[in-house]
Amino acid sequence: MTQDQAILVVGGAGYIGSHTVRQLVANGKKVVVLDNLVYGHPEAIVDDEVTFIQGDLGDRPLLDKLFTEHNIGAVMHFAAYAYVGESVTEPSKYYQNNLAAPIILLDAMRDHGVEIFIFSSTCATYGNPQYVPIDENHPQNPINPYGASKLMLERVLADFSHAYGLKYAALRYFNASGCSLDGQIGEDHNPETHLIPLVLEAAAGTREHITIFGTDYPTPDGSCIRDYIHVNDLARAHILAIDKLSEGAESFQCNLGTGIGVSVKELIAAAERVTGKEIPVVIGERREGDPPELVAAPAKAKELLGWEAEYKDLDMILKTAWAWTDGPKKGHYS
Ligand code: UFG
Repeated sequence: MTQDQAILVVGGAGYIGSHTVRQLVANGKKVVVLDNLVYGHPEAIVDDEVTFIQGDLGDRPLLDKLFTEHNIGAVMHFAAYAYVGESVTEPSKYYQNNLAAPIILLDAMRDHGVEIFIFSSTCATYGNPQYVPIDENHPQNPINPYGASKLMLERVLADFSHAYGLKYAALRYFNASGCSLDGQIGEDHNPETHLIPLVLEAAAGTREHITIFGTDYPTPDGSCIRDYIHVNDLARAHILAIDKLSEGAESFQCNLGTGIGVSVKELIAAAERVTGKEIPVVIGERREGDPPELVAAPAKAKELLGWEAEYKDLDMILKTAWAWTDGPKKGHYS
């Protein structure tokens, strides 16, 4: 893509999308956001220069109009459904939105000559890890329809790349975390299921307690270990990926994580440190489908993109999330 072209950010009003949009604008990129606002928040688009279009990524007439009216050089796709439990009970919803709809988007891109695609993939494509840290050669055996829908789209991308010359990056996120440094935008899911916002709500007193899902895992303290990667680090990797592909690099897949494992108990202790509040904890049962440990081997992203996490300090990550939960919006858009 060229400097004068815009980047289409599908799902740009969501958590990771909105942080990426801000970083793109700060980097002088033109941005068009397409979001159906099912889970996204219009207030998460804070820069006036962004063109916002409300609509669905599977709406072909809308996509044709959009690609005709705007000079789009690349597409970032953040608009997936991501509730693992719901994907088990409502797989059709997940395969429709996370697999069928993006194929319509990819076909529209092809017909309008747009070749670069950055895909939000996930560590959930690996399934239960056979070893940690997880590198990109780890077998991909997802254990739920959410992870399967993401892996299937990865396969579609590989085939489109081979047959049609699509240039893509599949970025496999570990646990997205944190918020913008100024507390202006943040993580606001409804319902909220993610550990950090729930822990911080318990710290703020808007939630009675945090339940630890299992303390009998084969980990040092018995609680699950995850790799929490800051949303601004994720955003930066997307911009580097576009630049890399624009320079002529081959399509690629890579993990985005810190390489550092943090247990649920360690995270709660860190949140108490950062907020200065005591957090009421209840020990609960294991949550179905939670692997004991998910930690990235992030070497490939460094080698390919020169990317590594800047927020390696968990307290720093939590400080940014606390700026949102304890800030003027109290962790929620209107
Ligand atoms: N947890 C609790 N209590 C809670 C919520 C979570 O103990 O109230 C634990 C979970 O058991 C898990 C850890 O905190 O061990 C993190 O849980 P999250 O729900 O915040 O995140 P996940 O690890 O489940 O999510 C990650 C990615 C998702 C992806 C999912 C697929 O962030 O994008 O893996 O497995 F969908």
